[in-house]
Amino acid sequence: MEKHIYLVGFMGSGKSTLGPVLAREMKRPFHDLDSLIETQQNQTITAIFDSEGEPFFRELESDSLVQSQYLEPCVMALGGGAFVSEFNRNLICEHGISVWLKIPLQLARNRCVDSQDRPLARDLEQWDSLFQGRQTHYSLADIHIEVERKSPQQIVAEIQERLEEMVL
Ligand code: S3P
Repeated sequence: MEKHIYLVGFMGSGKSTLGPVLAREMKRPFHDLDSLIETQQNQTITAIFDSEGEPFFRELESDSLVQSQYLEPCVMALGGGAFVSEFNRNLICEHGISVWLKIPLQLARNRCVDSQDRPLARDLEQWDSLFQGRQTHYSLADIHIEVERKSPQQIVAEIQERLEEMVL
């Protein structure tokens, strides 16, 4: 399988934690789109949101996604908003397989409530509508995996099984 594996899902769903484990299992490099943006901009995501605003961050996100097509086949964790844009989804669909790490609202909230590096987790009132509004977008992913009450190893094994089914 030569396509990238893109991990999508809401903040706190485990994309950046599970990604390296999956990549190791698949003997592929791992990349985190937010980290690529931070390195390129020499600024944290929070600083980019604060100084330039979210629309500018979304442009950087799409640009980095365009660049990702030139990487060797990898596992890539995307930021929670990346799969909302149709432009991004089309790119992902063309160059990869998308895996939605499906997390319930409350668990995502518990995991992110103290997060200092997530600008969109600052406003917990906005959190619920952001979560709800994104579910239809995430549901367009190729593979859906429930993450609640599963160990990282279980989730990664499940993703691998589903990927194998896809290429058979
Ligand atoms: C965002 C999620 C973050 C990061 C940015 C915006 C979002 O990534 O890209 O703060 O819109 O949901 P994580 O999902 O890795 O926290």
